[in-house]
Amino acid sequence: MAEPTKTATLTLDGQSYDLPVLSPSAGPDVIDIRKLYGQAGVFTYDPGFTSTASCDSTITFIDGGKGELLHRGYPIDQLAGKSHYLEVCYLLLYGELPSAAELEKFEDTITNHTMIHEQMHNFFRGFRRDAHPMATMVGVVGAMSAFYHDSTDIADPVQREIASHRLIAKMPTIAAMAYKYSIGQPFVYPRNDLDYAANFLHMCFAVPAEEYVVDPILARAMDRIFTLHADHEQNASTSTVRLASSSGANPFACIAAGIACLWGPSHGGANQACLEMLKEIGSPENIPEYIARAKDKSDPFRLMGFGHRVYKNFDPRATVMKQSADEVLDLLGVENNPVLATAKALEEAALADPYFAEKKLFPNVDFYSGIILEAMGFPTSMFTPIFALSRTVGWISQWKEQLEDPQLKIGRPRQLYEGETARDYTDIENR
Ligand code: SDX
Repeated sequence: MAEPTKTATLTLDGQSYDLPVLSPSAGPDVIDIRKLYGQAGVFTYDPGFTSTASCDSTITFIDGGKGELLHRGYPIDQLAGKSHYLEVCYLLLYGELPSAAELEKFEDTITNHTMIHEQMHNFFRGFRRDAHPMATMVGVVGAMSAFYHDSTDIADPVQREIASHRLIAKMPTIAAMAYKYSIGQPFVYPRNDLDYAANFLHMCFAVPAEEYVVDPILARAMDRIFTLHADHEQNASTSTVRLASSSGANPFACIAAGIACLWGPSHGGANQACLEMLKEIGSPENIPEYIARAKDKSDPFRLMGFGHRVYKNFDPRATVMKQSADEVLDLLGVENNPVLATAKALEEAALADPYFAEKKLFPNVDFYSGIILEAMGFPTSMFTPIFALSRTVGWISQWKEQLEDPQLKIGRPRQLYEGETARDYTDIENR
């Protein structure tokens, strides 16, 4: 934990209060207000946590001004270009890049946890066929706590590690099964001879009637999408997982809570909303109308895939994703994809517009991901499940870090109360 390097003084009602200031290894200094209420009898107020650090962490760092994203110090563009998802999983979980032997052991462990308990197949059949796959994932992942009792004791580091491996390994299987169920096709079991991304594509697109050979370039693009979504500091869904875990809830319940939070269109649901928006815009000629709507305060419409709480520059993931979109569409021979053409024209128009420049609204990770996923054959309803699959390692790494923190306390925010003060009950005949 960072040590105080200087002091901030708060003056209130003629009293002064000294608050320690902690200096991080990167990012802004942090005023430690843990003793503020005890000393001054006041709360701080920050509903969206725009200026509040909820924890200390060593996993991921974002410099929103520079558009920089580091995982354990390694820049995301280097990891996306030189590493692969399971190696990034190891890095996020354990803090260092693995040796060749460590990586081989880790990949074998994950590969051998990819099947789910056969009885869990019944859960899927309880859903309507047209259920959103995110609803299925929330349900099935939460239900894992009913099957994997030998990895729910969060006080046991061995069980914590098994739960981490099981969740990373089984999320692609569960996501693929949710997809297969939604289209009325039989489930496809995982295969140990395929790597993580190829296995997911095989489970989604193989059918019993014929052999399905995974295109290695698509598998590489899929793996890169997983890597780009792996972790992202204390975003809404990660904070949900941390808060759920602070009560001692089991890991499967905590990850199910994270999936539920990610589903929202302001967060992980933006990739689905973005592609639907691009299709609604239809062609570059209609862009001025939508730009005007996005700027109109009386219109709730926002450019999905644009803006970010932290990035006030390009989201570095969007930059890599845009390159990947061009590669995948070229590979698939998707000439002149109208949606990609609209996306590129929209990005150009928005970045040239003073409104977006002043508010520092740039494309985020969700702006191009949907274009790639649709080109690969996924329906828009599978976009957020793929985000959830990718983010599971980030959620579980942050969950593990919090449980290993000796200062762990249950998260219990206070409030600015503006309701009625105490008053007596009025009998109904007197109302
Ligand atoms: C993710 O936190 C993370 O790290 C998340 C994530 C991760 O990896 O976990 O990066 C993944 O969630 C990416 C974001 C995906 N969401 C979207 O693309 C949805 C569209 N974007 C917005 O809803 C919005 O930009 C947010 C939610 C992403 C951020 O919202 P903030 O930080 O709360 O900013 P805000 O809503 O206060 O907006 C600031 C101003 C407002 O105008 P004013 O009231 O100041 O006049 O910018 C405007 C907003 O109206 N604005 C937009 C806009 N986003 C913000 N105007 C038009 N279009 C937009 N997309």
